[in-house]
Amino acid sequence: MKKQVVFDYYQEYILDTYKKWKIIFVKGKGSYLWDIHGKKYLDFFPGWGVCNLGHCHPKVMSAIRNQVGRLIFIPNNYYNLPQAKLAKEIIYWSYAGKVFFCNSGAEANEAAIKLARKFGAGKRYEIISFQNSFHGRTLGALALTGQEKYRQGFAPLPEGFKIAKFNDLNTVKAQINEKTVGIMLELIQGEGGINVAEKDFVLGLRRLCDENNLLLIIDEVQTGIGRTGKFFAYQHYGINPDIMTLAKALGGGLPIGCMVVRKEFSDILKPGEHASTFGGGPLVCSSALAVLRAIQKEKLFTHTQEMGKYLKARLEKLKEIFPSLIKEIRGMGLMWGVELNQDANIVAQKCFEKGLLINCTQGSVLRIMPALNISKKELDLGVDILKSVLTEIYKAN
Ligand SMILES: Cc1ncc(COP(=O)(O)O)c(C=O)c1O
Repeated sequence: MKKQVVFDYYQEYILDTYKKWKIIFVKGKGSYLWDIHGKKYLDFFPGWGVCNLGHCHPKVMSAIRNQVGRLIFIPNNYYNLPQAKLAKEIIYWSYAGKVFFCNSGAEANEAAIKLARKFGAGKRYEIISFQNSFHGRTLGALALTGQEKYRQGFAPLPEGFKIAKFNDLNTVKAQINEKTVGIMLELIQGEGGINVAEKDFVLGLRRLCDENNLLLIIDEVQTGIGRTGKFFAYQHYGINPDIMTLAKALGGGLPIGCMVVRKEFSDILKPGEHASTFGGGPLVCSSALAVLRAIQKEKLFTHTQEMGKYLKARLEKLKEIFPSLIKEIRGMGLMWGVELNQDANIVAQKCFEKGLLINCTQGSVLRIMPALNISKKELDLGVDILKSVLTEIYKAN
């Protein structure tokens, strides 16, 4: 099929809800992608946080191949082996409790909203979330999302959601009342521009939840599955959430969402009160198991921490070279934001032309989330391309 025909089909038959780069990728391996003409790209943002093991990891491919020949799908009114094994593994790496499987981050967050409302027993239902947060595109998740641009045009959103200021405990306290049932946050706001939650703030939220009988719900859709150098970002803070939501990288490229509920709260939802047809099917669970095992076997926590430090140092060096272009470097593990003093879309576009895929969020922040198994050489290659782009822009100014 010719490239233009693909574009024409999209134009004619697919709703235009995504901003798109005019490129068709046909192959991926590790940190690289190839387009329809065979041009190779280094991917500094594989799958928007889905491909933590890079593209087409051999262990994930083989797990999918094995399972596909046995049983692709079986609904949740029967038992399946991969789901049982995956649930045990997630609980082993997090905290005592139980999981609910679904298909996406938004869906996992919707499950958390429903569980919190059930916990509130009709008297308490308000959830406090934060400015610049992102929790998904369904109506409940949008009501949690503290960014007007995503909400605009979709009013009225469901009631019962309050928004406080990130890293500001006093604004949270001010929102708590007799109807509050939970607090929900990302520990690093990804879409919001890589804003890292301060330790005191998170400890303060845990304390507030304990004192007021509120659920602390942590959205680890983007920060989970090794991204920050630990399995889950909350493990850097010395606290446990009451509920954690996962998606993206868990499935190794297949769609999965998961809500992990602490033991004390794991019998709130009763049979028939929540469900998801595709949730926890054997194929996606086999793929997710392969992801979790590869992360451990390939010692990717240590590698992520080491590469993260190296990447940070290289980005800080760029900031020294281009103080007028780069405002701030922030992040953790292999999740970094480079805030520019100018439009970051232009930088991302120029990087793309030179064979580097890099994300831009909030207009001025370059978001770098490479595969956790990226090599130092590949990091150098990407940062060198970014440096050459910044040099061009610096000279032109
Ligand atoms: C922190 C966070 N929560 C939720 C979501 C929504 O996930 P999904 O697109 O799988 O519904 C995203 C997606 O980017 C996210 O980054």
